[in-house]
Order: sequence, then C-alpha cells, then structure tokens
Amino acid sequence: MNITWDAEKYTSDFSFVHRYGNSVAELIDAAPGSLVLDLGCGNGALTKALQDQGYKVIGMDASKELLDVARKNHPEIRFVQGDAADFVLPEPVDVVFSNAVFHWIEKEKQPDLIKCVYHTLKKNGQFVFEFGGSNNNQLIHSVLETVFREHGFCYKNPFYFPTIGEYASLLENAGFQVKYAVLFDRLTELKGENGMEEWIRMFVKTPFTVIQSQQEKKAIVNQAVKELKKDLFINGKWYADYVRIRMKAVRV
Ligand code: BEZ
Repeated sequence: MNITWDAEKYTSDFSFVHRYGNSVAELIDAAPGSLVLDLGCGNGALTKALQDQGYKVIGMDASKELLDVARKNHPEIRFVQGDAADFVLPEPVDVVFSNAVFHWIEKEKQPDLIKCVYHTLKKNGQFVFEFGGSNNNQLIHSVLETVFREHGFCYKNPFYFPTIGEYASLLENAGFQVKYAVLFDRLTELKGENGMEEWIRMFVKTPFTVIQSQQEKKAIVNQAVKELKKDLFINGKWYADYVRIRMKAVRV
C-alpha cells in the first residue's frame, strides 16, 4: 500500500505506536552487539531504543517522509529506504524486528516479505514482530463499511489482519520455526476530543479515494464518528479497538 505520511502528526499524535513496540523488543534474545534490522522503522524511535539496548541497528522504511524524520532525529543511525517485501541487505543480520507494519502489506505479498526476512537472517536468526491481528479495529471498519454502503460506495478494508494459524503456516512454509505466538486485544486511547476522526483521517486513506466529493468524504467520516461514539467513546475519551498478533520465529 503506497501511503504518503504526515510524519510530524504521526510522531506527535500517534506515539503510542512506537511506545507499545518496546514490549515487543523484549522477545529478542541476542547478545549485545548483535545486528538488528528494524523493518518498517518509521520515525526511528524504536530503532533508537534497540540501539540503546546495546544492539547494532539498521532501520529500513519505504516512506521517504518518515525516513527524513528518522535521520534528522537520529543522525548516528544507519537508515535505508526499502520495501519490506522486496529487499536485500549487503550483510546478514542476527535479528529482524518489526512493529505495527505488516498489516500495511497486501496478503499476496506476505510470502515475499517472509522470504526477504528469511534470506537476510543468519542461521538461527530471530524474527520478532507485532502487527494488527485477526479482527483488528473490527468496530471501526464495520461502521465505515455500513456508512460507505449508505452513501452508495463499497468499503474495502485495505489492511491484512491474519489469524495466528494463517501467519504461522506462512512462516513454517518459508522455513521458520515458530517459537511464540499470541493474539490479544488492546483497547488503545486516542489523543484528544477528535481522536477518532483524526485516526480515520491518518490511517484509512485508500478506501476514500473512490469518493470524489470532499464534502461527501467529510460527511462519511462525521457519520462514522457519530456511530462509533456509542462503543469507543468511554468516559470522555476515544479508544481504538486494536487486536495484536505478536510472534517470534527462528530461521532453522
Ligand atoms: C494497527 O497498528 O493495527 C493499525 C494502524 C493503522 C491502521 C490499521 C492498523
């Protein structure tokens, strides 16, 4: 999925994305000085946290906007532009780490992504990641689907949210051994009184490209937000109904 990111807003208003990533990194079991690739590093906040834990790090992202922020904030770190489903690194790495990225990559490209990771890892190298799992943001996407239909449009959820069984099979087919897998709910507080509207505007872009009228886009977002208020506006705060899939696999 090609997205142009508002890197500053992403960094200031959606910092929970990288904050939660710190606990994913706890699954890494590697000696200090091991080389870790942060795949889909975004603004580089987690790449820096991995470096602070004593690893050598490389950050890779497809987005020039996010890499500009990463390089500005962390000039001492090596950041490279690359597509997670089509990359080769000049040297093998001990660990591939990724947080909140793989749901952006089409289902059809997931085997390519896993193959790239496999070939970039050393033997016994670790693949540690978390992203949106089965039923992620179910309430939000189902309300958007209904509102789109009411306006005469078809809503296609643009994200890939697999079950553990599905993703474990892909990993095993590629030669990985799955060591750890968990799927869990994470109701996540959004920032500010317009938190849901801003979340939809920041993250749900491609379904809206079929709608020409800016006024109609606005009306759809407003109607969806109104509908979602019943379930996701709790004690004066907005929440998103996240579900995470978190796994660790080893290249055997
Ligand atoms: C996620 O982190 O699960 C996610 C974020 C934005 C859009 C879709 C999924």
